[in-house]
Amino acid sequence: MNYASANSDLATLRSPCLATSLAIAKRLAKPTGNTATLSRAITDFKDQAGTSLRVNLDGPVARVLILGGADECSPSQYRKMCTLLAQQLAAMDIAQAAVHLLNTKVKGHNSAWKAQTLMQAISHASYRFNNYKSKPKQPVSLKRVRLLGNQAEQKALRAAIKLGSALDQGLTLAKDLGNEPSNVCTPAYLLGEARKIARAKDVSLTALDEKKMLSLGMGAFMSVSQGSDQPGKMIILRYSGGKKDEAPIALVGKGITFDTGGISMKPPPGMDEMKFDMCGAAAVLGATKAAIEARLPINLVTVVAAAENMPSGRATRPGDIVTSASGQTIEILNTDAEGRLVLCDALTHVQGYKPRAIIDVATLTGACIMALGSHASGLFANDDELADALTAAGELSGDRSWRLPLWDDYQAGLNTNFADMANVGGRGAGSVTAACFLSRFVGDYKWAHMDIAGSSFHQGAAKGSSGRPVAQLFTYLVAQSGL
Ligand code: BES
Ligand code: MN
Ligand code: ZN
Repeated sequence: MNYASANSDLATLRSPCLATSLAIAKRLAKPTGNTATLSRAITDFKDQAGTSLRVNLDGPVARVLILGGADECSPSQYRKMCTLLAQQLAAMDIAQAAVHLLNTKVKGHNSAWKAQTLMQAISHASYRFNNYKSKPKQPVSLKRVRLLGNQAEQKALRAAIKLGSALDQGLTLAKDLGNEPSNVCTPAYLLGEARKIARAKDVSLTALDEKKMLSLGMGAFMSVSQGSDQPGKMIILRYSGGKKDEAPIALVGKGITFDTGGISMKPPPGMDEMKFDMCGAAAVLGATKAAIEARLPINLVTVVAAAENMPSGRATRPGDIVTSASGQTIEILNTDAEGRLVLCDALTHVQGYKPRAIIDVATLTGACIMALGSHASGLFANDDELADALTAAGELSGDRSWRLPLWDDYQAGLNTNFADMANVGGRGAGSVTAACFLSRFVGDYKWAHMDIAGSSFHQGAAKGSSGRPVAQLFTYLVAQSGL
């Protein structure tokens, strides 16, 4: 989507559609001679949250899309209003639209927030994945949106648009990667996509192949990858937008391009959804892309642990013991708990970049869906400041997480007679024991783990990648870069 800021002078506005409040629609109607048309159209309209009305007008503004309850509302109502607006615009057969919605009073939020909230809603509503449809259903005509504001708001609006457009590109990339089927989106494909990102200024890429990973002692990663004919990849992207000597923020993503469960195989119903098991990788690549597009003054190191979890004659058996790159040994009791195995070696590797914080993102446990459903990502952290910053970024962007405990009490679940730890815990708190497992590979680094098993993709009729938590991560990075 293409965005521009523009002056909110209604007398000179020309547009196929203006989306706005009832009050502003009335102000528009007067100079354009549409007062009678408008008052007839709004006879039964209730100006309250959740309503909208489209009215065709004469003159330079062909339609007005009126959003109910737009004088004053809560942040969540504003977000819903933006979603409604975006869905309506995406369904219209128009290439351009103008939106005048910065006048709404939203407690605690400024014009920049309102503009970004709107852009995020438009990004979601106008996204389509039609790579494999001979005849795409409901294509989106909308290409360009102008955000109207008064003179004093123009500067903030331009800055918001820069961030909003960058986020739009990151979200689209993450969704596309998630939606690609596993016969296309392999570890090598993810590497190719990372290479495209690395064409930008101040970005460099390193890829570790399986031979290299074996030489680095990544026995945990390899225990997953060895069962597949698709060679695994560890992908490292570095973006140096910040000061030379400043420690980077590390993002680490689980990139299981398909999770059959391995020898501990998953049951067939819904197994196709395991193409989304690389959504952590997609999210960190999306957030990295957005940070680069926005030219955030920050240093980043992004690591993707990409492998396919397959059963085969070379696959890991339950009971096998492997040595991770950290030197710790792991008894693999369930080959379906593979995410933590590829991640632990990535977490060890990323410490070589001396990051100031490490955030890993993974579709790690079905138990997280049981605990939180799809509304919140699960958040774990060994540092309160980091947890609070991520939580705040979630609230601000509407892409929210909820913190779960990482208490020592849960660690004992990973005990085994045969190695330093097992890769699965007991029956309860599966998301917590998974996080406990990862915590053993981060040393004293400030670290957070996000379990996005429930939030990163939709099931059922709307099946598809949600792009989460790209918005949360990007908002966190924006805050960390001091913007
Ligand atoms: N990729 C799955 C987790 C998952 C499940 C993500 C459903 C999205 C939707 C993960 O690799 C897995 O299989 N986890 C196991 C762990 C168990 C064996 C301890 C699970 O959740 O059942
Ligand atoms: Mn699994
Ligand atoms: Zn998995």
